[in-house]
Amino acid sequence: MTGKILGLGVGPGDPELITVKALRLLRRAAVVAYPAPETGDSFARAVVARWIVPSQIEIAIRVPMESARFPAEAVYDAAARAIAEHADAGRDVAVLCQGDPFFYGSFMYLFARLADARRVEIVPGVSSLAACAAAAGWPLASRDEALIVLPATLGEEQLARRLADAEAAAIIKLGRHFAKVRRVVAQLGLSSSARYIERASLASERILLLDDVAPESVPYFSMILLHRRGGASR
Ligand SMILES: C[S@@+](CC[C@H](N)C(=O)[O-])C[C@H]1O[C@@H](n2cnc3c(N)ncnc32)[C@H](O)[C@@H]1O
Repeated sequence: MTGKILGLGVGPGDPELITVKALRLLRRAAVVAYPAPETGDSFARAVVARWIVPSQIEIAIRVPMESARFPAEAVYDAAARAIAEHADAGRDVAVLCQGDPFFYGSFMYLFARLADARRVEIVPGVSSLAACAAAAGWPLASRDEALIVLPATLGEEQLARRLADAEAAAIIKLGRHFAKVRRVVAQLGLSSSARYIERASLASERILLLDDVAPESVPYFSMILLHRRGGASR
């Protein structure tokens, strides 16, 4: 009997925001795999560290963060091979995914390599979108409004064009792109309709007006929520 490959959403950071199902499957898995930076700790692993036991085999998928090398094909090829070998030997493999696996998750690179030939099950997680909205008390969209999600990595013109008509937007992957996004939002006259949310659901969470943010302090785990009416309930 082959093992299952499980893409487990572990939520945005607060360990209490993992689902009952993801936790049950994580505890039963013989192997736990997770994305990690080239050096240092995995954020996804840290979320569930209290439940990982020494008898579980761990696979750290160390991905270079520089965009020129992303998505680091060779790293994902090797990780997919290692995961497949464990599954073929009858071991369930839990792949930890920060937030939700299918919302901009790197799990998709493994899914693309494994899903045709192996049993892969996805367990959805609380996404950063939901966590940021909850943290800021900033409803995402209501009634017939359209919500768009934009990566801050887009060019300035493209961001401006897409935000110009947007009723509600989430701008993710801020990091070093924050100053560019803030400039675009200000040029469109939308600064007072936006909030900056950093590390939602963690003890270090911060929620600020864009003008109060120091661009050099902006981490990867941050986003801007924008709503023309200043939040659906306001
Ligand atoms: C590659 S995407 C992964 C999203 C993840 N799969 C999810 O469901 O939230 C990473 C981006 O999600 C956002 N993000 C993830 N966790 C966050 C958090 N706790 N607080 C604020 N933004 C977060 C940031 O914009 C970050 O750059």
